[in-house]
Amino acid sequence: VKYFAEPFKIKMVEPIKILTREERLKKIQEADYNVFSLAAEDCYIDLLTDSGTGAMSADQWAGIMRGDESYSGSKSFYRLQESAKDIFGYAFIQPVHQGRAAEKVVMPILLGKGKVSISNMHFDTTRAHVEIAGARAVDCVVPEALDTESYAPFKGNMDNERLVKLIEEYGKENVGAIIITVTNNSAGGQPVSMKNIKETSEIAKKYGIKVVIDAARFAENCHFIKRREEGYEDKSIREIAKELFSYGDLFTMSSKKDAIVNIGGLVGVKEDADLFEKVKANTIPFEGFISYGGLAGRDLEALAIGLQEGVEEDFLKYRIGQMEYLSAKLTEAGIPHQTPAGGHAIFLDAKKLLPHIPYHEFPGQALTIELYLEAGIRGCDIGSYMLGNDPDTGVQLESQFEFTRLAVPRRVYTQSHLDVIVEALIEIKKRKDSLKGYEITWEPKILRHFTAKLQPL
Ligand code: F0G
Repeated sequence: VKYFAEPFKIKMVEPIKILTREERLKKIQEADYNVFSLAAEDCYIDLLTDSGTGAMSADQWAGIMRGDESYSGSKSFYRLQESAKDIFGYAFIQPVHQGRAAEKVVMPILLGKGKVSISNMHFDTTRAHVEIAGARAVDCVVPEALDTESYAPFKGNMDNERLVKLIEEYGKENVGAIIITVTNNSAGGQPVSMKNIKETSEIAKKYGIKVVIDAARFAENCHFIKRREEGYEDKSIREIAKELFSYGDLFTMSSKKDAIVNIGGLVGVKEDADLFEKVKANTIPFEGFISYGGLAGRDLEALAIGLQEGVEEDFLKYRIGQMEYLSAKLTEAGIPHQTPAGGHAIFLDAKKLLPHIPYHEFPGQALTIELYLEAGIRGCDIGSYMLGNDPDTGVQLESQFEFTRLAVPRRVYTQSHLDVIVEALIEIKKRKDSLKGYEITWEPKILRHFTAKLQPL
C-alpha cells in the first residue's frame, strides 16, 4: 500500500515524552493495569480514542477567535446551522455538547418502557440512553462482521432479513427506532453500504418506524461507499452524504470524530417540525438554550468549519489511508486484525494472536498492556473485559470479539508513528506465547472497564 501523504503541513507541535520500559512498568503497576488510569503524558502514542483528540486546522482556530458568545441568536449559531444544512440537507439542526447528549435529547422522544430500538450495532452510550429511556436495545449486524479474516466490503451492514423478523416478533408499534450507526464502531469501524441503508429505510417506512442515523463517522462511511460500492465511484463525498441522510428521519452526531472538533454534537431532523419542537424542548433543560446547546460560541464556530473540512476528499484519502497502511503492514507481519480495516481504528484480534489466554483472562487487555510496556502505545480492550458480568448472575460474559482497539486521532500522528506501532507489534508477536492473562482484583457494578483494578496472572 502506498501511503497517501498528509494533505497539510504542521504549524504547531506538542512535544510527547518517551519513558523507558522500567518507567512504563512502574506507571502501569501504579495504574493497576488499567490504561484509563494512566496519565496521558505517560503515553507516547495515544490511541485510546479518535474522539475529541483530532488536531484542529488554522481555519478552525481562527474561527475560535471569531466565536460570538451571545446567549441567544449568536452569529456562530447561524453559521453552524448553515454549514450543517449544507452537508446533511436537513431542515432542522440543533447543537448539543457531544454525541451522548444528542442521544439523551432524542431517545426519550422515540422510546419508553416496553419499546425496543434495533440497530446494526448500538454504541455503548447509545445503548445506555435507550435503556435509560426504559427501552431495550437489540443489535442486528450482518454475520460476516464476526469473521475478522474474511473480506467483505460492508461488514457494518444491518441484517435486513433479521430486522424484518425482529419487527414482526416485537410488533411494529413497539419498535420506537431503527438506528443506523455509520460507520459501525463496535464491529470494527466497518462501513454500511448505501444499498443496505436504503433497504433498511424502506423496511422502516413500510412499518412506520423512524430511522435515526448515528452519524459520528458519516464522512468515513461515505468515503468507503465511494471506493467500494458500484455506481458511487464518480460521486463526490458531499453527494453521497446527501443521499445517505435522505434515508433517515433524524440523526444524532458526536462531532468529536468526523467534524474534527474537541467537543460538540448535533441533532438533525429532516422535515418533521413537531418532532423538532420536542427536540428543542428537551435541549433547553438538558443542554442549554437552543442557540448554543451546551457549547460556547467558539465551539459552534469550530464545528461549522470542521464539518466542511471533514468531507474533503484528500483529507479522507489520507485519513483512511493511514488505516490501510497500518493494516497492510500488519497483514504482512501476520498480525491478525479485523479486515478490511475500518475507518478510524485497527482492531487487533487478540483471540487469534493469544489463543492460550481464555476470554475470562482478557486477551484484549493483555495485548493492550503489552503494547504499552513495549512502546508506550495506549490502546484499549474491546472484548470480554469491557463487556463485564451478567447483571443477573454476576458471571463473566464471553464477548463475540476479543479486540485491542487502536483508534487513530485525526491529523495528529505521522507515518513514522504508524511504523512504531507496527514494529512494537512485531516484537510482541515474537514472544506472544509468553504473554499472560489478567484477573480483576476490584470492579464497580457498571461500566467497569474504566475504573477496575487488575493484576497479571
Ligand atoms: N456513537 C458512536 C458511534 C460513537 O462512537 C460515540 C463515541 C458516540 C455515539 C458517543 O459520542 O463520545 O461524543 O458522547 N465514541 C467514542 C469512542 C467515545 O471512543 O469510540 P460522545
